[in-house]
Amino acid sequence: MQILRTVQELRSWTKSTRAIFGDSAKLGLVPTMGALHAGHLSLVRAAMDECSAVVVSIFVNPTQFGPSEDFDRYPRTFAADCALLEAESAQFEIAVFAPSVDELYPKGAKTFVEVDELSSRLDGHSRPGHFRGVATIVAKLLIVAAADRAYFGQKDAAQVAVIRRLTADLLIPTKIIICPIVREANGLALSSRNAYLTPEQREQALVLSRALRTIKSKFAAGEHSTTALKKAALEVFAEEPVVRLDFVEFVEWETLKPVESITEGNLCALAAYVGSTRLIDNLIF
Ligand code: PAJ
Repeated sequence: MQILRTVQELRSWTKSTRAIFGDSAKLGLVPTMGALHAGHLSLVRAAMDECSAVVVSIFVNPTQFGPSEDFDRYPRTFAADCALLEAESAQFEIAVFAPSVDELYPKGAKTFVEVDELSSRLDGHSRPGHFRGVATIVAKLLIVAAADRAYFGQKDAAQVAVIRRLTADLLIPTKIIICPIVREANGLALSSRNAYLTPEQREQALVLSRALRTIKSKFAAGEHSTTALKKAALEVFAEEPVVRLDFVEFVEWETLKPVESITEGNLCALAAYVGSTRLIDNLIF
């Protein structure tokens, strides 16, 4: 498994991989911030199923963290990440792109990608500047990797909306593929930030998926009003008062604009603090 540290090395890898696989080459890109878990690996496997070769980027992107957020303590487990990818990659061409911050943000960098309106909704409302950082780094990765397909998780549903908009607007030809949320058997959505939780907090965190299951069953029973569905979710959160709800919102997935009555394809997104750890989860109707 090759470890690529510079933009130049990634560009060379893309070029030589295309030369090996010829006209039918399909290159996949899986952007991550590392601390890999089964959710990330599901994206890697989806990419391996559909592509001739896959590059997994591991880069904790400073511009998507707010000044009081967890950039410094975000888990960095590079050796373990490489071992996991190595285990996946027998008989398959996987490369890891793990650049330094200076490599992706050249000295004096002044250019950022701002996806208007969407960037200030949902997580973007709670975390000002977050989606500007995400859009900027994802645009850079898509441009440098020049992959045919890039794989993202529904877990970060608002991020998906931002990325779909930016690729359409910047005329980036990479096809964006969305993979389902991977959960623990008890319902907890996998996240690198789950590493921050104590065993007790892991139990408390189940309230997020429990609220979504309640919403899903009420919707299946014919309740389409978002006011009623939100009330049901708040009741579930009231069972776990130490968990501080940030938001539960019902929106059109493409624009992240609120809806009053649910139709197919709408998104219910929620975010909550368990201790100081912010967790997110969602469902698509
Ligand atoms: P990160 O949180 O490392 O996630 C990388 C990718 O894995 C994202 O597309 C995310 O949605 C997906 N993912 C995370 N948990 C998942 C789960 N439980 N099931 C399925 N997919 C899951 O998202 C980011 O990094 C960054 O914002 C990034 C896009 C890399 C830009 O810096």
